[in-house]
Amino acid sequence: MKRVSSHVSIASEAEINLDLSRLLIDKPRLTLERKRSFDEQSWSELSHRQNDGFDSIMHSPAFPSGFDSPFSLGTIGDPHPLVNEAWEALRKSVVYFRGQPVGTIAAVDHASEEVLNYDQVFVRDFVPSALAFLMNNETDIVKNFLLKTLHLQSSEKMVDRFKLGAGAMPASFKVDRNKNRNTETLVADFGESAIGRVAPVDSGFWWIILLRAYTKYTGDTSLAESPDCQNCMRLILNLCLSEGFDTFPTLLCTDGCSMIDRRMGIYGYPIEIQALFYMALRCALQMLKPDGEGKDFIEKIGQRLHALTYHMRNYFWLDFPHLNNIYRYKTEEYSHTAVNKFNVIPDSIPDWVFDFMPCRGGYFLGNVSPAMMDFRWFALGNCIAIISSLATPEQSVAIMDLIEERWEELVGEMPLKICYPAIENHEWRIITGCDPKNTRWSYHNGGSWPVLLWLLTAACIKTGRPQMAKRAIELAESRLLKDGWPEYYDGKAGRFIGKQARKFQTWSIAGYLVARMMLEDPSTLMMISMEEDRPVKPTMRRSASWNA
Ligand code: GLC
Repeated sequence: MKRVSSHVSIASEAEINLDLSRLLIDKPRLTLERKRSFDEQSWSELSHRQNDGFDSIMHSPAFPSGFDSPFSLGTIGDPHPLVNEAWEALRKSVVYFRGQPVGTIAAVDHASEEVLNYDQVFVRDFVPSALAFLMNNETDIVKNFLLKTLHLQSSEKMVDRFKLGAGAMPASFKVDRNKNRNTETLVADFGESAIGRVAPVDSGFWWIILLRAYTKYTGDTSLAESPDCQNCMRLILNLCLSEGFDTFPTLLCTDGCSMIDRRMGIYGYPIEIQALFYMALRCALQMLKPDGEGKDFIEKIGQRLHALTYHMRNYFWLDFPHLNNIYRYKTEEYSHTAVNKFNVIPDSIPDWVFDFMPCRGGYFLGNVSPAMMDFRWFALGNCIAIISSLATPEQSVAIMDLIEERWEELVGEMPLKICYPAIENHEWRIITGCDPKNTRWSYHNGGSWPVLLWLLTAACIKTGRPQMAKRAIELAESRLLKDGWPEYYDGKAGRFIGKQARKFQTWSIAGYLVARMMLEDPSTLMMISMEEDRPVKPTMRRSASWNA
């Protein structure tokens, strides 16, 4: 069994700042041997020059093979005692299929009587495990996982008599062992056995994001370039880029289609899905080969990103001036010049927002659809917006300002609140359908999820605020091991171990490890983060009538 390298420790502020400045400003050091990558180009630029031999992630690995980052801080102090414990627990969660590691089980909670579906390998749950393994230079498990889930994509997906789209990726899978016949098969769940039978929209996006992380970290482009991976990406994208009755570039979703996999009033255009959609599109743009079908997809992605970026940055963004504008909205405006484009009635603004919104700071709303703005704060979507550069640099700074200003509410005693605030009483009855698991300040309804720590850390590093991440990591360290790595915490400040929380929840363990390793070596952020797209003017194409 491989032991964790002992250099995993939190660096001092001065060292982190030094390291960050090298990471963020002196970027060419990271890209020593490579051409200017897609990250440094705008996707709009790319989508207008597909034919002129562009370079891509395929031809420009940011990291050489091996764990030899130029920005590694080396050994600083002793590793935190939790690190070894966490690795040990993470290894216990590894699932093997025909002798090969293929993923990690959701929770290894021996004390819990009910297994429910926590004995499965969830696609979204595996992402922090995968990042931890990559950072420890254990890449096989990640490659195997990507290949196994890719093959599961082509399995028959039926819910009663209805066949799901070919691109749908499973929410989870498990290894079925037949002891009599001595065989092993992988059995996937595409949502048909999930609560409410909802398919996971996020799985396909996480798969693409992980494929890019693997490619970027290992420098092994052969996997992403393989016909199977190219096809898998196209199938996933086909589901989201097909034309329908939509008037918005955002993706219409049912409740429960993502990390929040029960009824929580996120139906419509939830920020979590929109941010992951944006990131997956940008990752796919770096990996799709511009030949045959790939070329059409590249063009479609460019157009969608153009519209999606505009929509999200303008209509989902909320800060003090925006809130004041909405507060003064007129309604019933019929025309192209309408200011209140979605006919939001100012009376629908919940009271809590007026106190919550600081003068400095802002965030992406939970959801924007006709006459409906969900003002709740959702952590995953906002962190992904920063990491993927869906947020402009100013918006990223504002989101971090908000977290700082509202630390008590959003972090409290355990990072990080999945959403804020909780819904209560009548609203809880109507919105959750009286869900006893999602009572106020519990689970998805304002509970605190340690897994989100890695996303917060990545956002902190990207915006140059390592001290904030350090503070959050230390908070988590004071409880996580002692409490047995719970899935979530309850209460306004996140003080209580969740009512029905599993112990030894794998993504709580992996999320902590990734956060700590990223802070120790900020250059690892590059495998998950994306640079801002620089706006360029679309190339003017002369119409046929131009010369006439
Ligand atoms: C819960 C969470 C979901 C997670 C699953 C396994 O259902 O809501 O996001 O994937 O548990 O951990």
